[in-house]
Amino acid sequence: MRAGGLTLVRSEGLDVCRGCPSPAVTTTRHAWRIPSAGSLERLARVTEDLAPPGVGEARVRVEAIGLNFADVFACLGLYSATPPGAFVPGLECAGVVEALGPPRASGESTVAPGDHVMVLTRFGGYATALNADTRYLVPLPETWTMAQGAAYLVQALTAWHGLVHLGALAPGQVALVHSAAGGVGLHALAMARAIGATVIGTVGHGDKIPLLEARGLVRSQVVVRDAARFGAQLDAALAAMDASHFDVIFDAIAGSFFRPALERLAPEGRHVLYGAADFMPSGARPNWRRLAWQFLRRPQLDPMTLIDKNRSVMGFNLIWLFERADRLPAAASAALALSAAPPHIGARFRFDELPRALRTLQGGRTTGKVIVEV
Ligand SMILES: NC(=O)c1ccc[n+]([C@@H]2O[C@H](COP(=O)([O-])OP(=O)(O)OC[C@H]3O[C@@H](n4cnc5c(N)ncnc54)[C@H](OP(=O)(O)O)[C@@H]3O)[C@@H](O)[C@H]2O)c1
Repeated sequence: MRAGGLTLVRSEGLDVCRGCPSPAVTTTRHAWRIPSAGSLERLARVTEDLAPPGVGEARVRVEAIGLNFADVFACLGLYSATPPGAFVPGLECAGVVEALGPPRASGESTVAPGDHVMVLTRFGGYATALNADTRYLVPLPETWTMAQGAAYLVQALTAWHGLVHLGALAPGQVALVHSAAGGVGLHALAMARAIGATVIGTVGHGDKIPLLEARGLVRSQVVVRDAARFGAQLDAALAAMDASHFDVIFDAIAGSFFRPALERLAPEGRHVLYGAADFMPSGARPNWRRLAWQFLRRPQLDPMTLIDKNRSVMGFNLIWLFERADRLPAAASAALALSAAPPHIGARFRFDELPRALRTLQGGRTTGKVIVEV
């Protein structure tokens, strides 16, 4: 078949281009699409045409997809940024640039066909190929695998934005990092170490302790969270560090763990909230009655108390920064400067196993990043 002067041949169910100036150009793709948010069971694998890359876009053949907690929330309909109607979830992947659309402005694009890139995308990542805005492509570090590239951007940028940009963690300070063995958490540990700060990390299960010990924490720096005695657990961990308070709290759990941590925040301390994992439903669909109960019991705060105590509580959601593409290059290089080692991949799945990969992430027992390889 000929298209636009190029020769397309069938290869493993996909049309690829032979005789193109550089690598083959995919024209159809496989994707995991959900007709509407509400249940993980609605995710369905589809084969669909992919339009040529538009203005300012690059066609990327995807080799690895990084899963994020936000993907689960989006599929369940619990994420405010979720698109209405049918959508392809997925916020990041890594792959090879196959072709470029017309540039937005002359000389704008810094990528070329054949380049290996990490990709940030506001949904649409669960696919074997996609057209991505070139402003959200970051060169894959030379020694990294595609899986490592797909594991990096969202979580490293989250750790950098929360702990460094907002949290202003400084040398000699003490940080509490929740879910320290998770994807964001491991980057937060690496960044805190590079800064010269001390971390007390929390995990949900003791089987994550060895990973954190391998990352340089001693046993007394790891708290296996117990809601019934969390305050006492924090006091013991602080005492073992010869410290009395946290300077920064990096918190994506909230729920019943919010208040005991906040009570141990130092004057001038920053409590940075960036998630509410406590709200994560355990099933394929949200249990609305349980969510309503959790919502009623969510942490509440009188802002006037922050003045007396000299404390700050702040929050962020990186997806709202997506429109600020101009900030990405500086943020990505700042994150890479502080967390330069390839990210830890805790679990790998095949593309056809993607729903199982999501359920595994949802289960809360994974470490580092969950990756789907294409
Ligand atoms: N605001 C933002 O821009 C932004 C961006 C990226 C991620 N996030 C948030 O950051 C958090 C981490 O995200 P991630 O993608 O890197 O995942 P992750 O940390 O690799 O994994 C999620 C971890 O959350 C913990 N968790 C706590 N309560 C849970 C529950 N009820 N059910 C399941 N897991 C629970 C589990 O670790 P432990 O039990 O060991 O704690 C689990 O391994 C998520 O809450 C996510 O929403 C926010």
